[in-house]
Amino acid sequence: MLKGKTAVITGASRGIGEAIADKFASLGADIAVIYAGNHDAANNVCGNCREKYGVKAIAYVCDVSDFDAVKQTIAAIKSDFGTVHILVNNAGITRDGLCAMMKEDDFAKVIDTNLKGAFNFIRHCVGMFVRNREGCVINIASVVGLTGNAGQCNYAASKAGLIGLTKSVAKELASRGIRCNAIAPGFIKTDMTKEQEDNPLLAAVPLGRMGEPSDIAEAAAYLATANYVTGEVLRVDGGIAM
Ligand code: NAI
Repeated sequence: MLKGKTAVITGASRGIGEAIADKFASLGADIAVIYAGNHDAANNVCGNCREKYGVKAIAYVCDVSDFDAVKQTIAAIKSDFGTVHILVNNAGITRDGLCAMMKEDDFAKVIDTNLKGAFNFIRHCVGMFVRNREGCVINIASVVGLTGNAGQCNYAASKAGLIGLTKSVAKELASRGIRCNAIAPGFIKTDMTKEQEDNPLLAAVPLGRMGEPSDIAEAAAYLATANYVTGEVLRVDGGIAM
């Protein structure tokens, strides 16, 4: 279904990003794995994609918040793969704390990674998308970007910003054949949530369980091929934010 497409996935050395890389590779896409520092994990993800599915997969170390580093990384990807068709902005961090106590740096780092990081990749891919007359951006937001969350004003603001970015890019570029959508995950079992498994809020999940990274990967695969869907925010949250 994605044969002949090249997908760039940020934060793909583990968790949700790794699951999306595996899913897209299983559908035939070539994969550029963007990772922050864990070289071995990123190379393992690429090795699995190559061995299991026979696709091309290369890892690139890049801090998504660094505009110039992203520019260089996209240039390297263009030279290795020829072009990019699908971009998944998945890299994200938390620095939780109450608003009244939050350090300036904890606010700035979360916005720079989660929101500006996505802008940086869109900004440097959009020229290729316009030339190809096709492009698909999937931003991994969060249900807290829709609802807000006490103790996460930085993270929720970054994810709400990502939703605004998604809809603006969707409106700006729809006439060029470029779609831009967001996924808003709820509680998903990854390293990011390993201390959340006893969170009392989990009892409020209508489907009664945490999600798996593969639940998000399924939604990403849908958005990658849903040719009449743009500007959408797809909740994949077991119903918690309905
Ligand atoms: P994770 O912590 O396992 O993975 C995040 C990935 O992003 C890591 O590989 C990390 O190295 C990478 N990353 C962080 N900063 C980076 C930077 N500056 N440059 C390059 N890469 C960087 O977390 P998880 O759970 O897989 O999260 C993936 C996305 O899903 C994040 O955007 C997160 O906010 C979002 N999300 C996760 C939820 C969950 O319950 N796990 C719920 C809602 C949203």
